[in-house]
Amino acid sequence: MKSLVRQNDQLIVNKAQRKLHIITFGCQMNEYDSRRMAQILMGQYSLTPHVDEADLIIINTCSIREKAEHKLYSLLGRLRRLKATNPSLKIGVAGCVAQQLGNRLFSRAPYVDFVIGPQALYKIDGILGKLAHGEIRLCDIELSRRFQIPCIDAPLPKKGDVRAYVTIMQGCDNFCTYCIVPFVRGREISRPSEDILAEVESLARQGIRDVTLLGQNVNSYGKGLEGDVDFSGLLERIDSVFPDVRLRFTTSHPKDLSDRLIDCFGRLGSLCEHLHLPVQSGSDRILKRMNRRYTSQHYLEMVEKLRRTCPDITITTDLIVGFPGETDEDFEQTLALVKEAKFDQAFAFKYSPRPGTAAVKMKDQVDEKVKSQRLTRLLNFLNDIGLKQYKKFEGRTCQVLVESYSDSKLTARTRGNHVVNIEGPKDLVGRLINVYIERACHHSLIGRIVH
Ligand code: SAH
Ligand code: SF4
Ligand code: F3S
Repeated sequence: MKSLVRQNDQLIVNKAQRKLHIITFGCQMNEYDSRRMAQILMGQYSLTPHVDEADLIIINTCSIREKAEHKLYSLLGRLRRLKATNPSLKIGVAGCVAQQLGNRLFSRAPYVDFVIGPQALYKIDGILGKLAHGEIRLCDIELSRRFQIPCIDAPLPKKGDVRAYVTIMQGCDNFCTYCIVPFVRGREISRPSEDILAEVESLARQGIRDVTLLGQNVNSYGKGLEGDVDFSGLLERIDSVFPDVRLRFTTSHPKDLSDRLIDCFGRLGSLCEHLHLPVQSGSDRILKRMNRRYTSQHYLEMVEKLRRTCPDITITTDLIVGFPGETDEDFEQTLALVKEAKFDQAFAFKYSPRPGTAAVKMKDQVDEKVKSQRLTRLLNFLNDIGLKQYKKFEGRTCQVLVESYSDSKLTARTRGNHVVNIEGPKDLVGRLINVYIERACHHSLIGRIVH
């Protein structure tokens, strides 16, 4: 099972003198933010994939689980040695751990030059300017009340990319009791739809054919934007202006999934048949303690509605095992829900206590050993169900977008977000082609080009 946490996702090269290396942990929003930082600093730095030749290293951090936070500390330990051999090297910590710890990061790692929170990223060149003038240990973790991404042409992170993310809102107001995101990303703020459309246009002009709209809870998009569209309205606008760009979004909260949005899957030609709809648990008692504000029955009804509206839709989810107070019976209910919902793929996590959240203070924390046993059982269960779902594609012909080429192999994606491996020439990258699915594996399909 793949984890949502992607590691060491490095942005790649171009020219200029001083060199910048960005290391990104965490979710797609962090990937997007790293691209933005690179863009803001483009005139002053060129990106390098080699950490040891960098003049500036930025670590864009994630705080979602304890493990993610620990990755930062072990990385910082290694970077400390680089700084010892190159004293002019600047090291910055950005993202969610930066927001969580602020100035406290300097006492843990005094060789860090600056700490910058996710909503202060757009001020990064100012911080570097101050460092150049001799100021030390700068920290900016201000949370803003406005959407802070300036609308400028979006350069591609890598030449030849065909997929891109566009952040449409920041923050989260849901306060699920296990989750640190509302504390480190602040309140929900939607981005004006004009800016989003301008960015999609810029990306389309540069060859992007598949766009994923990002937010922690995209269904509540539009709150606070007087006279602008809501989320379904935003999808409709993008679909009408860019009918040829594949459109996706993540993440939706089940409590806010409206019939109008479900309807979009049957109606909008560019909207791909894939929905990531995190359920977290199949036990109503645990869902309540998590403050998710829906029941397992409501969730399953939505899954059914989605499949009725769009029979081919891929439904993926997130699950947490070992939330405080979770009994064997609660866990069995999660297995039962997974069986009934027939997820195509799921990301499963052991509950990790996060500072400042409500769940960390709950008395009945689950033993680590029990969490591990439940996770193993759940992963096995998910693998079996996922493979069955993938097997349904064997013998079908699907339209795929070719995303990349390596060693005479192409990697492509279906509208339903299944990865398809095919043999074929490089010049098909960026093209839509038809493939015959020969075989299903656990997390991918093997296809052959149909001429
Ligand atoms: N906004 C998204 C989720 C963002 S975090 C949503 O609500 O769907 C991605 C996933 O990490 C969550 O869906 C949850 O399954 C998991 N997660 C969040 N906090 C966690 C914690 N403290 N321990 C374990 N998993 C957690
Ligand atoms: Fe976290 Fe819940 Fe917000 Fe998702 S909706 S980011 S899980 S608080
Ligand atoms: Fe991690 Fe922050 Fe994303 S905590 S999952 S990088 S919003």
